[in-house]
Amino acid sequence: MKLLLCLCLALALALAQDPHGKKKDHHGQAGDQHGHGGDHHGHGGDHHGGALDRCKGIEMDAATENEEGIPYFFKGPHLYKGFSGKAELANSSFTELDDHHHLGHVDAALRMHYKDDPTHHDHIFLFLDNKVFSYYQHKLEVGYPKEISEVFPGIPNHLDAAVECPNPDCDEDSVIFFKGDDIYHFGIKSKKVVEKTFENMPNCTVAFRYLGHYYCFHGHKFSKFDPKTGEVHGKYPKEIRGYFVRCPKFGDDSNHLDRERCSHVHLDAITSDDAGNIYAFRGHHFIREDADKNITVDTIEKAFKELHSDVDAVFSYQNNLYMIKGHQLFVYRVGEPHTLLEGYPKPVKQELGIDGPIEAAFVCADHHIVHIIKEKHIYDVDLSVKPRVAANQRPLSHLKKVDAAMCGPAGVTAIVGNHFYRYQSTMIFVAGRILPLQERVSKDLLGCDH
Ligand SMILES: *[C@@H]1O[C@H](CO)[C@@H](O)[C@H](O)[C@H]1NC(C)=O
Ligand SMILES: *[C@@H]1O[C@H](CO)[C@@H](O)[C@H](O)[C@H]1NC(C)=O
Ligand SMILES: *[C@@H]1O[C@H](CO)[C@@H](O)[C@H](O)[C@H]1NC(C)=O
Repeated sequence: MKLLLCLCLALALALAQDPHGKKKDHHGQAGDQHGHGGDHHGHGGDHHGGALDRCKGIEMDAATENEEGIPYFFKGPHLYKGFSGKAELANSSFTELDDHHHLGHVDAALRMHYKDDPTHHDHIFLFLDNKVFSYYQHKLEVGYPKEISEVFPGIPNHLDAAVECPNPDCDEDSVIFFKGDDIYHFGIKSKKVVEKTFENMPNCTVAFRYLGHYYCFHGHKFSKFDPKTGEVHGKYPKEIRGYFVRCPKFGDDSNHLDRERCSHVHLDAITSDDAGNIYAFRGHHFIREDADKNITVDTIEKAFKELHSDVDAVFSYQNNLYMIKGHQLFVYRVGEPHTLLEGYPKPVKQELGIDGPIEAAFVCADHHIVHIIKEKHIYDVDLSVKPRVAANQRPLSHLKKVDAAMCGPAGVTAIVGNHFYRYQSTMIFVAGRILPLQERVSKDLLGCDH
């Protein structure tokens, strides 16, 4: 019974992480673990023009997580899902927005997240002019839209931003509203409105709660703030694009080290080499952490020229880095500089007995087996024999997908979005029933200190 309970919990967690199990796209740019499987071919499909490219520096109107923790960003009539999803029309996900109102843009958005209030728990609230819309799983709640003044008495119309603030982040379960430099804390139960000024914070156009932190977007920048006091600690503002959007290029003045350690955009691939150095890849950059925890960031172009960017999977074997991108395998000898072995790239199928693209791969020390994760299955390929064959196909027991994985003295590390899980062995990783402790990639793996 207990086991069953654990299994259900693990399944629920895995589901929560990736409801659609969408696999990594080998072009990389759409490799968003949180990509919504919904309306990829709907109305939104044609709207991929440059003006809608988030990497060109769009100032969003509103942001929230959906019920499953997928970030939603609103701009004009468009909606962006996840950190790399393309522009879609917001009215294809939130149909009634147009019935009641010509959708110019959404002023503010939030996800009610108060377990004590089951009626509204996990409902998404969208604010347009004087109206508020309440959605649950993309369905408009009966009786909505309503006047903002009816649902949130004392709160003005034409808001700039809004964010949920559950207890104990705020003194009681609250919503924080932003308009100009006016800040309103609205108590969900008490309906009490407390006006505040956040002295050192710029006017927010977006307020966004993510992984328990509070972010104010202003222009192209964002700051992390204390929801009670508006205090900003640490080095802010920072560039939104580096941390909340997967982009190929960043300004020369950007702090690559901080961005790559602290970014919320998922890693593409990770490995540790024989000397204990960790290499983590994301978009056009990679992070190298040596055994002394000294971390450096560089471009893939510079250290692995032929690969350029957007790696799918990397594993280390006999002092070489095996790097997989789409259908090709690149093998680099580790050194200063890293050198591509002669004859590479070669087809993944020919070299490993399984066709690319794959999602993740890892080799545990002193073994000759590379474990390959592809489409919810794991395969073993014996590297000591040729020709190589992908054998021993097994389903992954509880993780619905894996973005990247590595194996080292601490066991198997599997990365899913912003989180990673550690397993003592490959066997436990494959067949285990219980989801291990969830840890943060930025904080617990890459040493981001905020
Ligand atoms: C959705 O919004 C677009 C752009 O504002 C508009 O052209 C379209 O008619 C709307 N679709 C629906 C179903 O309301
Ligand atoms: C912030 O909003 C107030 C209005 O509430 C406005 O007077 C002020 O100029 C704004 N500040 C900036 C930097 O835009
Ligand atoms: C970390 O690595 C960089 C680049 O290799 C080097 O310049 C720096 O001195 C190293 N720092 C430490 C503390 O070892």
